[in-house]
Amino acid sequence: MTMPKRLIVAIDGPAGSGKSTSAKFVAKKLGYLYIDTGAMYRAVTYLAMENNVLQDNEAVIKIAKSSDINLKFIDGVTHVSVDGNDITDKIRTPEVNSNVSEISKIKEVREALVEKQQEYAKRNGGVVMEGRDIGTVVLPNADVKIFLTASIEERAKRRTKEFEEKGISISLKEVEDNIRQRDVIDSTRDVSPLVKAPDAVEVDTSRVTIEQQVEIILGLIKKAWEN
Ligand code: DC
Repeated sequence: MTMPKRLIVAIDGPAGSGKSTSAKFVAKKLGYLYIDTGAMYRAVTYLAMENNVLQDNEAVIKIAKSSDINLKFIDGVTHVSVDGNDITDKIRTPEVNSNVSEISKIKEVREALVEKQQEYAKRNGGVVMEGRDIGTVVLPNADVKIFLTASIEERAKRRTKEFEEKGISISLKEVEDNIRQRDVIDSTRDVSPLVKAPDAVEVDTSRVTIEQQVEIILGLIKKAWEN
């Protein structure tokens, strides 16, 4: 598919809905920049844990504002570094999963990270950005907005498999409980909750393969590009 026009694509949805996997494929196929905004919230959470300040909002806000969080997408992996130190593996642990939603509720943390995300989108060329509030808050003028969903059982299965592949031992029930808890916090928080933007297209990925998901998303992008 030739798609010369550079579009801004926003993909939102809950944990395990297939955002990262399909967004990466779509960005690669189109030669667009891929930005995983969840990695930024995870980075701030990890730093707050390392500094023992999880309960201290002021200290967490200071971390979000002063840390130089960098995302580099290389060979299918979002490499995350803070002030030059690579923390790619450290941000994807069950411990970070348990704390990240509480950190993501803090308004000033969101403001600091949204600013960085909007800067990424301003760079020349197309962008596929994924998260929870991309279509609603970060890039409200995106050319294409997609909201991915899937059943909680399917999402928990996907995440458990990812942990297994990394050699992290965790039960399906534990993963499901964590996702359920994050869903509640992420979608009920006061500041930019996880909601479908009115102009987003909802895609249920429970019973579709990654290849099909990618095709659906590419089809929606093609439609926007032709308009
Ligand atoms: O996509 P993820 O599972 O890596 O995201 C981790 C957490 O970060 C998620 O539970 C909520 C938060 N998040 C957010 O609040 N806003 C975003 N745009 C992206 C992630």
